[in-house]
Amino acid sequence: MTPLAKSFLTSPRIFSACLRLHSSLSSEMIENMDKKATWDRFYAENSRKTFKNFEWFFGFETVQNFIMPVLQTMASPDARLQVLDMGCGTSALGPSVYQRCPVPVRVTCGDISPVAVRLMQEHVRAKAVQPGNCSSQLDFVELDCTQLHKHFGPTSVDLIVDKGTTDALLKSEEGKRSAGLVLKQCLKVLRHSGSLLQFSDEDPDARLVWLETKARSARVAVQEVGECRGVCYYCYQVTPPSHNCATLTDM
Ligand SMILES: C[S@@+](CC[C@H](N)C(=O)[O-])C[C@H]1O[C@@H](n2cnc3c(N)ncnc32)[C@H](O)[C@@H]1O
Repeated sequence: MTPLAKSFLTSPRIFSACLRLHSSLSSEMIENMDKKATWDRFYAENSRKTFKNFEWFFGFETVQNFIMPVLQTMASPDARLQVLDMGCGTSALGPSVYQRCPVPVRVTCGDISPVAVRLMQEHVRAKAVQPGNCSSQLDFVELDCTQLHKHFGPTSVDLIVDKGTTDALLKSEEGKRSAGLVLKQCLKVLRHSGSLLQFSDEDPDARLVWLETKARSARVAVQEVGECRGVCYYCYQVTPPSHNCATLTDM
């Protein structure tokens, strides 16, 4: 079985786990995960109950050891690090970075779904989430990650975290082109010392080839994150060309 086929076969398992609470959405989602309307509906269904962060897979506790060391290598005394949680949904990841990072960060949680953005804004306001550094900032923004240049200047972002967003695009038929655009946009807005971390269930045999083809001059490294319901997850680190920051393989 090819790695790509394997990755498609694992998808329904993930979706059935994620969508147990959202059974009416499952078939629509699998085919339309690149569409804003699909996600609006998904998060609107979620919001009918008392708010609870929804994690597509693994929460911050599992991925923090991949994120925090990278931020620490970038920290400088006089600059606030720019962090983007790209396709944040209603995940607690972005707010957790804001709460736990001891160095000043500006965390932007961006999603194409205004429903998810509003839910997170309301939740964070109600919970009065406190920063790990008094200079840190947390924002929720409706954005399309195929057009990051509309929100961020060139070489202005230190770290982009993508937990399941590129996966969602790659797994929908029409989203594949968008996934390539997103990668290019990330490389455009990342600082030379910056990194993109993609958390994904896609096998390295498939994802590394895709990343290396789409981002030719960038450096790509991979590390296993762990297993969830029998599916193995990975962290792919993409760094713009010619930069000396620590990579996952160096750590
Ligand atoms: C698989 S979910 C992951 C959500 C969250 N990162 C998590 O781990 O739970 C993918 C997310 O990407 C968002 N998304 C899809 N296409 C997008 C786009 N073009 N721009 C920004 N966000 C997008 C969806 O609204 C959804 O919240």
